[in-house]
Amino acid sequence: MAIALKPVDGSADTAEYREVIAFIDDGETETVIAEYLRRLGQNNSVVARGSLKDAIKFFTDHESPKVLIVDVSASDFPANDLESLANVCEPSVQVIVIGKRNDIGLFRDLVQMGIQDYLAKPLPYDLFSRSLHQALGILPLSQARQRAGKVIAILGARGGVGATTLLSNISWLIAEDLGRRVALIDLNLQSGTLGLSFNQKSNQGLSEILHNSDRLDPLFLERAMITVGKRLRILSSEEPLGSATELRANAVNELVRALQKQFHYVGLDMPSLINSDMMEVAKSADLRIVVVTSDIASVRDAARYINELDTGNPNGRTLLVLNNILPPQRGALKLTKIEAALNRKVDYEIPYAKTAGIQASVMGKPFSMQNGTATKAVRKLAHGLVGNAVIKPRRLLDVLRRKG
Ligand SMILES: Nc1ncnc2c1ncn2[C@@H]1O[C@H](COP(=O)(O)OP(=O)(O)OP(=O)(O)O)[C@@H](O)[C@H]1O
Ligand SMILES: [Mg+2]
Repeated sequence: MAIALKPVDGSADTAEYREVIAFIDDGETETVIAEYLRRLGQNNSVVARGSLKDAIKFFTDHESPKVLIVDVSASDFPANDLESLANVCEPSVQVIVIGKRNDIGLFRDLVQMGIQDYLAKPLPYDLFSRSLHQALGILPLSQARQRAGKVIAILGARGGVGATTLLSNISWLIAEDLGRRVALIDLNLQSGTLGLSFNQKSNQGLSEILHNSDRLDPLFLERAMITVGKRLRILSSEEPLGSATELRANAVNELVRALQKQFHYVGLDMPSLINSDMMEVAKSADLRIVVVTSDIASVRDAARYINELDTGNPNGRTLLVLNNILPPQRGALKLTKIEAALNRKVDYEIPYAKTAGIQASVMGKPFSMQNGTATKAVRKLAHGLVGNAVIKPRRLLDVLRRKG
């Protein structure tokens, strides 16, 4: 059943209503919120009669507003359902939760998840007003309550080890299997192949953005990106060979920060020859994935990358992935030898993808679009990165009390 949206100014057109959307499951609260929004002059806002589940369904195919107000009264496991909502909305959306329980424990759990506020019915007018003002940016918001997407940088220990292939497959699965919004940046400005992995020709989107870093607004970013899936976008360029294309760490980090507001994951395909600025960018990523193959040169350089990345950044995590770009052959280094040489465990190993690998490089389709052993291994990696953030109900007593 379609959800009826009621713009607070009485208009029939809901297309432009991007400021505040509320899903409320009782008439009284619905009227209070609509009335308050109208008085605040928030005419491009909408109040709908519906539950948290309706909101999840709605935002699966609609863009997120700036502020979302949801009602968890009908939800048995509000934290779990809110996690599902977070997965279909942009990270930058400010969420105010309304419920029927006045429970400080639940409030604390929700705020920890990045929810802006939890208010129990009947709606306390003053608290609601303060909360909405903060969410709309009229009052300052505390740092802790701002959600941002995670940054993943992928680095090949050497050229041709499959870094771009793995990034495109991981991202495809994070976007398609796990429903998160993903933006990828190909930092190989002259001859990057991230677009080709999705059968797309590069535009000049990334260069345009880097030359106009003063206007990193969502519309400009959206226009510069190539859409390769419902929730997957790429920023890349194809600069002339031989041109001067120095990337500055500041400019890239600023772009990453802008994308983090709109996407759950920002993936960086790092250049195969890394300079100090790009090393700085990789170091500031939340997660760095170093890709190694089973040969001596690659293992030597993987050790150098890991060493450099782990120096001076206690917050970042570095994963080591062994990628088999060739069929098993005699003389290749064994896993145990690689781990001994690097003095650490390989976190994931990706098997050789025979036909799927060839099809992927010729037809421009990530091999994870079809099943196979390599897809299974990449899926394990993608799911490992996202984590199965199922939040258990806090106390059994709470659940029993609500059911009884
Ligand atoms: N697990 C795999 N099985 C089979 N082929 C693979 C596998 N991983 C990558 N390849 C193939 O290896 C080749 C090189 O991969 P890719 O371009 O992703 O490497 P790269 O590290 O990004 O290279 P560059 O240094 O040029 O950026 C591609 O043809 C790709 O299809
Ligand atoms: Mg590459």
